[in-house]
Amino acid sequence: MNVGFDRAVLAGFRGREERAFAARTRRSAALGLRAAAHLPGSVPMAWMAGLYPTVPLYAAEGAGSRFRDVDGNDYLDFNVGDLSMCAGFGPPAVVRAVSRQVAAGAHFLLPTEDAIWVAEELARRVGVPFWQMTLSATGANTEVLRLARLATGRERLVVFGGHYHGHLDEALVRLVDGALEPDGEGLPRSARAQTRVLPFNDLAALEAELAGGEVALVLTEPALTNCNVVLPEEGFLAGVRALTRRHGALLGLDEAHTFQFAHGGLTRAWELETDFVVLGKGLGTGISFGFYGMTAPLGELHARYLARDGGPRGLAVGGTTYASAVAVAAARAALEELLRPEDYVRIGALGQNLADGLEAHFARHALPWRAFRLGPRSGYCLEPALPVNGAEAARSLDAELIDLRRIYMANRGIWDAVQSAGPQVSLVHEAADIARYLTVAGEFLGELTGRG
Ligand SMILES: Cc1ncc(COP(=O)(O)O)c(C=O)c1O
Repeated sequence: MNVGFDRAVLAGFRGREERAFAARTRRSAALGLRAAAHLPGSVPMAWMAGLYPTVPLYAAEGAGSRFRDVDGNDYLDFNVGDLSMCAGFGPPAVVRAVSRQVAAGAHFLLPTEDAIWVAEELARRVGVPFWQMTLSATGANTEVLRLARLATGRERLVVFGGHYHGHLDEALVRLVDGALEPDGEGLPRSARAQTRVLPFNDLAALEAELAGGEVALVLTEPALTNCNVVLPEEGFLAGVRALTRRHGALLGLDEAHTFQFAHGGLTRAWELETDFVVLGKGLGTGISFGFYGMTAPLGELHARYLARDGGPRGLAVGGTTYASAVAVAAARAALEELLRPEDYVRIGALGQNLADGLEAHFARHALPWRAFRLGPRSGYCLEPALPVNGAEAARSLDAELIDLRRIYMANRGIWDAVQSAGPQVSLVHEAADIARYLTVAGEFLGELTGRG
């Protein structure tokens, strides 16, 4: 692929940037050495090492759109915890609600009244009437699939290439040279039997699969956001809805990311019809919770299959710390005080500025690239045409380039997005933050192309 730059240039300044990074992060490195004795990879959760091109930074504290590492370096954060921190670090409304609820009892294994408020608000905001809470979007997708299997009497899951729906076995499947493979070690090979991976934006492929009558659930993001961005073509999502209905399958829209992109998520913004909606990442508060919403018939089915002590087995859902009083209080605070319609308008406009600024850089540096655009999310498409499916999008996931860019930007106080994403405008970013990102990105592209 002609990516518009010379790879030898990358190698040329990677060493310099890595040395600069190492010099700035000595305390993180020392903590990493100490941690290695008891934490595999020096981290308490593997992604904290695996997602970054350097030794893991140890974080100290954050405020608004910035965090500080243990060496005292400050970073303007465009990764925002892979969208779990879209409300920023330490949002006062969430701090107040969580502190109050922890003091009053974090969890009772009983509902609190806030849960009713939250479900009423999500029903109003997203347009789906019944809601359940989990600890994560993974948990929500797991339960959605189980309920879909109960409702349809079928087992198969359909996802689209370039997907990520969390770490449930059935969704961790990918196509390798046309063959289905578990997407990671430790997964049973049998997970493949339950899943089909189809190309996004291909209704004919979906219809052929659904016609077999074995699909319980089609699960998709409204726009793919885990392989950069793939937008649905005109009529694709309506077609998915029509086909799932016609062939007796259910549809789940996974808005774990995209709920942070528009008020009520893309389900509301794009007026999508669906059977399930999945939310996650603590609605951008960073606190561990997820939700799934469902239609009235599915809500009633869910209620009929409650597990009761000594009674029938019930639907396999739930967990001890799910829907805790503190998680519900955080969700209420976020919905009531932070995620307002005008906030999404504001960050959507900033996202547009970010994408426009990146494209201006690409033009200035004679790079035949495009910027991804999905509300507050942008990114680097290394080709002149935007992708229509995950396979095309994967061509822009150039690990060598992305990792060097991230180290370069970190050395200049910008924490850029994980490889599969692009820079994200959060609710607490300001115009000056976008300008700063663009300045540093421009310097990077100038060095990369020698046309600075
Ligand atoms: C669309 C989507 N669904 C589900 C998940 C899983 O979320 P979690 O890891 O919080 O369970 C993710 C995580 O990135 C995601 O992007």
